[in-house]
Amino acid sequence: MATLCGRQQADQLIDYDTPTGQEKMPLWKFVDTIIADLGERFMTNPLAGFFPLIRLTGQDARYLDNAYRFRDAMRKLIEDKKKTPSSEDETDSIDMFRVLIEDDYYKDKPEEIINEVIVMFAAGMKTIQVSTTNVIQFLHFNPEYKKRLLEEIEGPLNEISDDFMTKLTTDVVEDFSFTRNCFYESMRLHPPAPLSSTSCFSKDITINGVHFPKDSAFYINIMGMNRDSEEWQRPDEFLPDRFDSESPLYARPDGGKRNPLTFSPFLGGKRICLGKTFAETTIRLTLPLLFYHFDFETVTPDQELVRYIPGGVKDPEVPFRVITKRKMTQKI
Ligand code: HEM
Repeated sequence: MATLCGRQQADQLIDYDTPTGQEKMPLWKFVDTIIADLGERFMTNPLAGFFPLIRLTGQDARYLDNAYRFRDAMRKLIEDKKKTPSSEDETDSIDMFRVLIEDDYYKDKPEEIINEVIVMFAAGMKTIQVSTTNVIQFLHFNPEYKKRLLEEIEGPLNEISDDFMTKLTTDVVEDFSFTRNCFYESMRLHPPAPLSSTSCFSKDITINGVHFPKDSAFYINIMGMNRDSEEWQRPDEFLPDRFDSESPLYARPDGGKRNPLTFSPFLGGKRICLGKTFAETTIRLTLPLLFYHFDFETVTPDQELVRYIPGGVKDPEVPFRVITKRKMTQKI
């Protein structure tokens, strides 16, 4: 959030309309909540997809009021930043708003700046949250793998525990290959974007004997590829070692080499996720820290992993929450 709008602005309070009244929320929580509300709106009212600006229900009205209030706050933020150029503002950091405000193309187009930043908020926040939470869940339900992850990270992190801020570098986490495999395996089983957005063929084409006329729409079933039983052994099980090239699980069930495109949680080609490197680096740096400092347990014992319903939307059948217990032996 700070990289998008600056550390100070991330904490500014904005009124959020909830079903029971109004609540003051810091900007980061406001964004998180409105993205969740947007998903719920499309789930509960499919017509919202066709008439996004129409207030068909009370939920629509609340959502739109919040969205307009959010844009107002963003306009004010742009105005405030414009008053103090970055060269004169020692308290501010370089963030995405700042970069766009000072860009020749964007500088007089506040609505476009807001649109760009909203895309980044939407694409970058929930995805990283969901990916991180899923690893925590999978390891919670697979304690033998959690033990292996802790064995991998604890020694090296103990050595740099006096100053993680400067000493926990990407080189350090590069050696945490089992932690990476747990992250990848979690992304394989529960990709934060289970379906791509829709694309169209630019010309007539035949693929595997199936003909698609020009302009036909299609989407890529990322989750389907991730669980393809011709490519993955025991595809529905959480087996992080399948990403270890030394493991027998690395091969396809028929012993052949896996098609590398089978694992594409960030998609690929020209429309590959713009934030792939940022997301992977962030998650690979934060996961070891989270597991080093905290223990996790479910709030009630009967909680299950989130389930996915057709259409690619995450539907937590039993809400999964965790109690984090700070490990008393470690200092932060
Ligand atoms: C684990 C985290 C993430 C996952 C799994 C993920 C996944 C994806 C996928 C699958 C797409 C392609 C969507 C499509 O075209 O159908 C995509 C696009 C995109 N992602 Fe991510 N993403 C993640 C994090 C981020 C972050 C952190 C940012 C920004 C900071 C970001 C920005 C974008 C943008 C701007 C696009 C659109 C690119 C384009 O259409 O040219 N993503 N992401």
